[in-house]
Amino acid sequence: MNGAWARATATALLTAALAGCAGPQSALAPMGAEAGRVAILFWFLTALSGVIFAGVFLLTAVALFGSPKWRRRVADHRLIVGGGVVFPVIVLTGLLIYGLAVLQAGSARSDGAAMRITVIGEQWWWRVAYDGPDGRRTLSANELRLPVGQPVEIALETADVIHSFWVPTIAGKLDMIPGRTNVLTVTATVPGISRGQCAEYCGGAHALMSFYVIAMPEEEFQAWLAQEAAPADEPASTVENRGLELFLANGCGGCHAVRGTQANGIIGPDLTHVGSRMSLAAATLPNDADAFARWIADNQHIKPENLMPPFRHFEESELEALSIYLESLK
Ligand code: CUA
Repeated sequence: MNGAWARATATALLTAALAGCAGPQSALAPMGAEAGRVAILFWFLTALSGVIFAGVFLLTAVALFGSPKWRRRVADHRLIVGGGVVFPVIVLTGLLIYGLAVLQAGSARSDGAAMRITVIGEQWWWRVAYDGPDGRRTLSANELRLPVGQPVEIALETADVIHSFWVPTIAGKLDMIPGRTNVLTVTATVPGISRGQCAEYCGGAHALMSFYVIAMPEEEFQAWLAQEAAPADEPASTVENRGLELFLANGCGGCHAVRGTQANGIIGPDLTHVGSRMSLAAATLPNDADAFARWIADNQHIKPENLMPPFRHFEESELEALSIYLESLK
């Protein structure tokens, strides 16, 4: 009985531990060149420390249980100085040089970057701006798209406190510091979806400050960017039209922009193509009409302290029209 329980516990723990090695937010399942280097460094360090640990374990066993002859050998002065001082100095110096080389530390390289994306951390969401080679800026939020195989410069800023930009499958983390612009150059190597997370405590809803990164083939990315830069589609039905009217009449446009309409607020996320994103509220909710309705009426329960006030005065049919309209903004 106890044996079965122990086996079940061990299996559960092992499964939980291994689950960290895969998935859209794992540094050990790299989808970017920089994360690939981090993963190589991790496995190299793990293997090397494993070998050294085994060696130390063996010497300890010999010192405790070995024959007198072997115990005298491991007590030799030269072994203690060599293994305790010289060996660690050589290994740690080598690892430092190797680690810096692998990570190319300190090089915010921008040679040949295809484009620049500015990501601004805000409590508790991400403002995203794509700067194309023609100098045109496209605003978006809470999701990042990358062209596969192209180095992209990501300029990291903050509008308030310190945040940290971390997409473990793409690259290491880099802080967003008030008054500074930190530049991270990343190259997505395979198409796919990754998840990022603010990695520096930044206030109440820090844990709910996440986002998705979608790496796309170059052509698809350019097509997506052209669509993202375009103004919002006109409402295509009576209910969507009613949604837009409610959106404008209730002051939503004071904080949010929907390009192509009178809504041009800059306080909150740009909603021009919000319906095309993978999530709402910085990867807090799925992106569907029901989630829009919940968010509008009850966002302080979903993401406490976020800067948007709850709008509880809408009737159900009004909430529905608003949600259908927002969801239609592809
Ligand atoms: Cu932003 Cu933690």
